[in-house]
Amino acid sequence: VNPTPAGKPPQGFQWRLRSWYDRNQRPLPWRKNHNAYRVWLSEVMLQQTTVKTMLPYYAAFLKRFPNLETLAAADEEDVVAAWSGLGYYHRARNLHRGAQHIVQRNGGRFPRTLEATLAIPGVGLYTASAVLSICYSQPLPVVDGNVRRVLARLFALRGPEWQKDGPYYNRAEELLDREAPGAWNQAVMELGALVCTPKQPSCPACPVRRDCRALAENRVSELPEPRARRAVANVTVAAVFVERGERLLLVQRGEGRLMTRMWELPRSSLDTAGRPDLLAELRSRYGLSVSLGDLVARTKHTITHRKIQLEAYRAVLKSRDLPTGTDFRWVTREELAALPVAAITRKLLRAVDASQRPLPLG
Ligand code: ADE
Repeated sequence: VNPTPAGKPPQGFQWRLRSWYDRNQRPLPWRKNHNAYRVWLSEVMLQQTTVKTMLPYYAAFLKRFPNLETLAAADEEDVVAAWSGLGYYHRARNLHRGAQHIVQRNGGRFPRTLEATLAIPGVGLYTASAVLSICYSQPLPVVDGNVRRVLARLFALRGPEWQKDGPYYNRAEELLDREAPGAWNQAVMELGALVCTPKQPSCPACPVRRDCRALAENRVSELPEPRARRAVANVTVAAVFVERGERLLLVQRGEGRLMTRMWELPRSSLDTAGRPDLLAELRSRYGLSVSLGDLVARTKHTITHRKIQLEAYRAVLKSRDLPTGTDFRWVTREELAALPVAAITRKLLRAVDASQRPLPLG
């Protein structure tokens, strides 16, 4: 076995992987020709979905929106509808906005540079590098979960410096075949998908087993090392339940990383103590002044890295008029059912409803 000094793959390593890929790659539809729109769509769909699941959606989506122009001209609702069942719908909205960006700013031509590609809404380094390397032979490495795993095993990458993506980018860039970056990137990903799988990899069938340091050291099952999980923090969020007759006061979230344009109860942020900071936060976040009443419901919700204790307090507005500059709405329960409301808010509202139901007798 060839020990592999950093950045110096053994003679023939790249040839072995590439010729394996040329003979064994799956005949996936976006590999037939390198149309940037089709490759872009495939990479976005593959981000949180397996090949097997996404293939029928991919075909149906392309039938409905065969090119950038038709996608850009579509209604967002129709795009999201074509995505229905795949989940993570921000991907569909971003794709739609991205297509509009390309049509408006680039005359419908997918950009050729990393800078211009990263300017497309929703396109990050992975997607940009994948499309540009596959479609336009730009020498850009890609790093996804498959690539990290393959590299970690090939080079027995361990320890704190291999917890972040940066070092993997550097290693992937050193290995990149500059003559055929798209095929190389896909060869590494394909090896991760078909052979160098997370559990029970097929080492005896691996085209680069003789180059694999983890295999030589009998450490394949230990690599890649699990990433340190960020500790889960316990936080309290306090919200107000303000009624006017049959209607309930909701506020719409702005553009942000999470839950964009969803409706929710006016509430404290994740970064404060909850009830003790509630009045001040309602004033600073929404310009809202209220008098607080009783706690009407309490429930729990877990999101990435946070366990949230949710509390709803009854409240009345100090002024009849709502402040301007924030999107408030008085909604009936029927209207609420049709609005985009995040799971966390629905949970809290269910808890409020349960607390207001009379207790069953005996
Ligand atoms: N996973 C995501 N994109 C891929 C591609 N182009 N080839 C193989 N696996 C992938």
